[in-house]
Amino acid sequence: MHTTWLRRHNLIADALRQATGITHDETLFQEAKRIVVAELQHIAYNEFLPEVLDNRHMTFFNLRSRTVGHDNTYNPSVDPRTYNAFGAAVLRMGHSLVRNVVGHDNGRGGVRTHLLKDHFEIPDLMFRPPYGYEYMARWMSKAPKSRSDRTIVDGLRNRLFEGPPGPQTGPGETLAFDLGALNVQRGREHGLPPYNVFRRFCGRRPAYHFRGGVAGGLVDHTPQNAARLASVYRYKYKTASASFNLPWLCLGRLTVTKYTLYMSWNLPIILLPPSSQLT
Ligand code: HEM
Repeated sequence: MHTTWLRRHNLIADALRQATGITHDETLFQEAKRIVVAELQHIAYNEFLPEVLDNRHMTFFNLRSRTVGHDNTYNPSVDPRTYNAFGAAVLRMGHSLVRNVVGHDNGRGGVRTHLLKDHFEIPDLMFRPPYGYEYMARWMSKAPKSRSDRTIVDGLRNRLFEGPPGPQTGPGETLAFDLGALNVQRGREHGLPPYNVFRRFCGRRPAYHFRGGVAGGLVDHTPQNAARLASVYRYKYKTASASFNLPWLCLGRLTVTKYTLYMSWNLPIILLPPSSQLT
């Protein structure tokens, strides 16, 4: 993706130079950058966000672009920092979108795919002639992404950065990372607040039990996903402390039902009796 935008930048800078006769490098750089930023934003607001958020939130936060003309709603006094939980949990939902394969498309019907696990830290697919970046970019632009759901593909879950056994490697020793587990651990390391704190933050009632779709419980989970979640907790109806992530609640009901179990991994949950006060 970075290569795509870098090349796009240079293409625009060349076009500007030809169209305007300006040769000052810094001016061309800055003007091309402005156009690239606008294009990135266009894609973010018109293609990515509507896939992630539901209609209500797109409207509530005034995130739609006009079909004609433009808005001038930029507010320089808005604090652009994100919540820690956004990086440590929320946007990691993208890990569910990653496919188990990467590919080449030669534009003449020749498509080859390769397992993701075989290409971590090996950029051959990008640079090795006669294939390379163009073939990959064409494949990526045509191939569907992985469904956004509760699962992460094998290449990320079981084979992330897998290397060959070394001289010190013991039998049965793990030679790869598990991205889902890293996310859970990172959430704990960052001290992300418990599930019910996020529910309150998002204007939802706390959950007091694990029953899916039932008032006072995991109302945003299907019963099947709630049951899966309950199955990994030792104390289901008392005070439990484990991993449970729901900042996606803030993204709206559609998103919540789409991501239900996957998103339920990263944050500590503390389930308390209904009379308890959460701080
Ligand atoms: C092949 C694809 C991908 C791989 C191999 C990958 C791998 C990783 C790894 C290893 C981390 C650090 C985990 C940790 O130790 O905490 C990470 C973090 C992260 N990933 Fe991915 N990821 C991929 C795709 C994505 C996508 C598609 C998105 C979102 C659309 C995403 C969003 C994030 C975010 C927000 C973080 C946390 C960044 C930070 O706080 O610094 N990733 N990813």
